[in-house]
Amino acid sequence: MTGIWPFVPSASPISLSHAQGAYLYLQNGDKILDAAGGAVVANIGHGRREVADAIHAATLNATYVVPPWLTPEREALVHELRDHWLPDHLPSVHLCSGGSEANESAIKMAIQYQLAIGQSQRKLILARNLSYHGTTISMAGLSGHASRKRGLESILEDHPQIQTPYPLRCPLGPHHPDACEYYLQDLETTIQELGPENIAALIAEPINGSSGGAITPPEGYWSAAQKILNRHGILLIMDEVMTGFGRTGTAFGSQLYGVEPDLLVAGKGLAGGYAAIAGVFGRAHIAEAIGDAGLNPMFHTFGALPQSCAASTAVLKILRSEHLVERAGNVGKIALERLQNAFGQHPNIAEIRGAGMLIGIEIVRNRDTLERFDEAARVTDRIIQSAMNAGVFFYPGGTGEYRDVVCIGAPFIIDEPEIALIEHALRIALNDLDQS
Ligand SMILES: Cc1ncc(COP(=O)(O)O)c(C=O)c1O
Repeated sequence: MTGIWPFVPSASPISLSHAQGAYLYLQNGDKILDAAGGAVVANIGHGRREVADAIHAATLNATYVVPPWLTPEREALVHELRDHWLPDHLPSVHLCSGGSEANESAIKMAIQYQLAIGQSQRKLILARNLSYHGTTISMAGLSGHASRKRGLESILEDHPQIQTPYPLRCPLGPHHPDACEYYLQDLETTIQELGPENIAALIAEPINGSSGGAITPPEGYWSAAQKILNRHGILLIMDEVMTGFGRTGTAFGSQLYGVEPDLLVAGKGLAGGYAAIAGVFGRAHIAEAIGDAGLNPMFHTFGALPQSCAASTAVLKILRSEHLVERAGNVGKIALERLQNAFGQHPNIAEIRGAGMLIGIEIVRNRDTLERFDEAARVTDRIIQSAMNAGVFFYPGGTGEYRDVVCIGAPFIIDEPEIALIEHALRIALNDLDQS
């Protein structure tokens, strides 16, 4: 099929027939549990008629208008967001078609805001050494993700980086009691080295997504980090493209840590895969300052497509009426405990971690030393393939340099039978790894 799709031939192309609920049905007749939720997207599961009907109605009502025009579909979405989802301090809404675009818009807003308040020297964006913010050239540059930069290093811009808190691999020792202090010190030292007056913003995921595999920060990290940033006039951009809209069992992952981002970016779960839409949600004074200065981050042509807005509103209403965010928290906790009990002591499992329905399983050659398998051994790929053969699709994580993590980002609707299937597939995949 070379030359048709994908552009670069893939070793094992998978042909889907259809999907329903939490399951994918392949053209070869296989039924696969979508434990990855696609790319950690399909929060309410596949094939909900209410959402399809909403998209249908929006298409007939107004197919497309230029984004600054307010459509009933966008108005309804903004009301849904403000009334039921966004933290009170983030009323401003800017819609994009995907997470990379939304993160770029947030960076633009941070720079424009600093300029608007007379801080034009604040041009630096702090990023983190283990992170993913998107695939465009500027977002790939910001990301701490070696494998997704491969072949592009010569053109990607370097940005100053702080260390992503990684309790398991803290340089002081695994889960060291001073890990929080260590990573906060790294933040403060980096800021001092760069000069706080030169930094516009820090961009970070509240819980590291698939790059590190659902790495949660040490207790107290985020609230203390926010105090440091505030003291230095540095904005906090939280990239919740993966964690937003219920994935962690709360509306947003940042709420697990009591942190209040200045700009919050969310995507994937906003329409749960029914439409390509993402958003930047910001403090009112940031939007006002940018507007008063006659600046504008510019819209994307498909940023506020009525169909996408209608899909999002329908998805968000389903999440609310079926209490799926709470469910993500509860079922995710059961799944995490079940996997920890089953595999927590496995010689090749370093850690099973996460929050809500975002779970990371870190696989190592030696759990005592945390030594990884060689990259060439392609352990993540092998685990994913074995699990697929056993009827479950996991999401591959890791950055090449930081590797072998397998992620679970299942639809929030899964239940006991699916958790049992996940456990079964992981057992088979680990046995296969052991025997090869
Ligand atoms: C945390 C995070 N930020 C940004 C992105 C990029 O989003 P998109 O692929 O929609 O451009 C992703 C995608 O995986 C992500 O997980």
